[in-house]
Amino acid sequence: DKITLSVIKADVGGYVGHCAMHGELILEASRHLDDARSQGVLVDYHVTACGDDLELIMTHSHGVDNRDVHHLAWEVFEACTEVAKKLKLYGAGQDLLSHAFSGNVRGMGPGVAEMEFVERESEPIVIFMADKTSAGAWNLPLYKIFADPFNTAGLVIAPTLHAGFRYEVHDVKGHQKILFSTPEELYDLLVFIGATGRYLVKAVYTKDGEIAAVSSTERLALIAGKYVGKDDPVCVVRCQGKFPAVGEVVEPFSMPHIVEGWMRGSHYGPLMPVPLSQARPTRFDGPPRVICLGFQLANGHLVGPCDIFDDPSFNEARRLCNVIADHLRRHGPFEPHRLPMDEMEYTTLPQVMAKLQDRWQPLEN
Ligand code: F6R
Ligand code: MG
Ligand code: MG
Repeated sequence: DKITLSVIKADVGGYVGHCAMHGELILEASRHLDDARSQGVLVDYHVTACGDDLELIMTHSHGVDNRDVHHLAWEVFEACTEVAKKLKLYGAGQDLLSHAFSGNVRGMGPGVAEMEFVERESEPIVIFMADKTSAGAWNLPLYKIFADPFNTAGLVIAPTLHAGFRYEVHDVKGHQKILFSTPEELYDLLVFIGATGRYLVKAVYTKDGEIAAVSSTERLALIAGKYVGKDDPVCVVRCQGKFPAVGEVVEPFSMPHIVEGWMRGSHYGPLMPVPLSQARPTRFDGPPRVICLGFQLANGHLVGPCDIFDDPSFNEARRLCNVIADHLRRHGPFEPHRLPMDEMEYTTLPQVMAKLQDRWQPLEN
């Protein structure tokens, strides 16, 4: 019997501003998912939040891209939008880009990461959820987890991991995808996934074809054709046995890598691994945060969560984030703190250009 794990998320209203989640939205979402569990649509669920993003973690037996499950998530986001409107929360319904559900939430605003698999004897999974950044944030950690022997000892010394993994990479601007085999094609893989705005690691598989990890790769700006909020992605990773250990999966986050997002989705900043209680980005609307919830699956039931970054061994990463944040902030409106012009989500450039159009003079030579 196969089980499907679906993580579907959206920002349907922030408290206060774009900072955090109001408890009423968690309650409203939980009420709906509880009904769905009673009716047998879901096996189990867990609702949480990272910053202003509402995260629906659901298990069921309907497979990925299932109409009923996606419809359920869409209805939950709509119901929560009503609560957000009533409380006049900030940006109520901001990620619901479409008004009519058409069978699948992909391309409608919410972020989606889903995988279907046969539950193992013991099935440890971890779910990463980030705020104030975008989908490319997972490229570096997914590379380290499944392909870097300095991160994942098992690639070298565990017979179950030694063969390496396959990466499914999506070109979100060219609308195409490709599979890379590692370690054989490491350098080819890196040519692409180093460009985190365009080439996104969508999934990782074992060499015998089992799903190991899946991420949300929705880019709101590409869907809407204009800035409508950051994508604030999620990523699910299966752990232990033929997959990397939990400790190998979280190890990349001890090095706070620099991601795009932060204030107005237009700045680079360090990704700070935090416990749930600290997933409320406030300083300059950041710095970007990532939480990690671990679960043991038991016949599809979500046993947990275990708040993985609630651990003093990530204190130094958090401290380093603050040091990097201080340094980057001092650059103010200058690159490389501010994103390059064509990557910025907010810009006054067209207006300023229009205002000054008569004042530009040709250079003499
Ligand atoms: C970034 C983000 C915030 C907002 C900023 C301005 O992803 O959500 O940094 O961009 O707070 O928000 P508005 O334009 O809604 O006032
Ligand atoms: Mg928001
Ligand atoms: Mg957000």
